[in-house]
Amino acid sequence: MAVNLKGRSFIKLLDFTPREIRYLLDLSRDLKRAKYAGTEQKMMEGKNVVLLFQKDSTRTRCAFEVGALDQGAHVTYLGPSGSQFGKKESVEDSAKVLGRMYDAIQFRGYKQTDVEALAKYSGVPVYNGLTDEFHPTQILADFLTVEEHLGNLKGRKLVFAGDARNNMGNSLMVGAAKMGMHFVAAAPKDLWPDSKLVETCKEIAKETGAKIEMMDDMLKACKDADVIYTDVWVSMGEPAEVWAKRVKELKPFQVNMNAIKVAKPEVLFMHCLPAFHDLNTEVAQDIHKQFGLTEMEVTDEVFNSKHSVVFEEAENRLHTIKAVMVATIGK
Ligand code: CP
Ligand code: NVA
Repeated sequence: MAVNLKGRSFIKLLDFTPREIRYLLDLSRDLKRAKYAGTEQKMMEGKNVVLLFQKDSTRTRCAFEVGALDQGAHVTYLGPSGSQFGKKESVEDSAKVLGRMYDAIQFRGYKQTDVEALAKYSGVPVYNGLTDEFHPTQILADFLTVEEHLGNLKGRKLVFAGDARNNMGNSLMVGAAKMGMHFVAAAPKDLWPDSKLVETCKEIAKETGAKIEMMDDMLKACKDADVIYTDVWVSMGEPAEVWAKRVKELKPFQVNMNAIKVAKPEVLFMHCLPAFHDLNTEVAQDIHKQFGLTEMEVTDEVFNSKHSVVFEEAENRLHTIKAVMVATIGK
């Protein structure tokens, strides 16, 4: 039977079968080629999409805006301030209002339950543009990038180094389980993903041939890796006080040339971005003053090496987010 995602929300990868994820990756590749060739067909003319952000964003916001506009749809951006959402109006009431005006809702915020409530009460497809728990649109871009470079996903060893119980660690583990990959979380034990989610992924792995592992030894974890992935040590919404503890416990899990050297020769370095690889940001300056670090989760050497595909990954946010919208609300 053909895959049909019309009217579906995209809230977490656990809701999708491997075939449906495959379909979204193939559609992303087709839309990317069409854009490059100048042959893109507009499938979303007359549609309106609202982009609701409780947290800041560069890539996700721009990908939804450009993706919608490329496809002939209109967007409204509602930022962390300036709407009634969550302050004077409940999630449920806001969902009922937005669902009457828009064909789809993108939400970036804190609680996974909020994005789920938006889907429940709005009656239109809802896209998770990141919550504390999951960041599913990022995984589509990551996997498209891996396939572009390595040709396939199945059996590939992907190591996530850092705070593995955050939205990126969780989502990569679920995505890897679904697509039959070998996922390794390289982190101190207290930053491993939630044990219930690990069990769920191990169950999925039995069906897909994936392998799910947790390790607290960075070099052992990175041995023969196809992909080494990392993310910021402190995520949006976490209090500044956690920096001291994270710097101490995650320094051994920094992606540097020692990690790259034990991996496969053609290993890819990936990061959802933004990344702290130098001192050219306000936050990095502040952390430098407090803890003396000049680079954090990844060294500048690795970030700028031939292994790094981070900007292709960022571009692929556009093609994959566009695919999610076309698949769910396109003609
Ligand atoms: N990777 C990612 O989601 O980036 P933004 O926070 O800029 O959207
Ligand atoms: N874990 C990061 C991802 C940013 C795209 C955060 O939530 O801030």
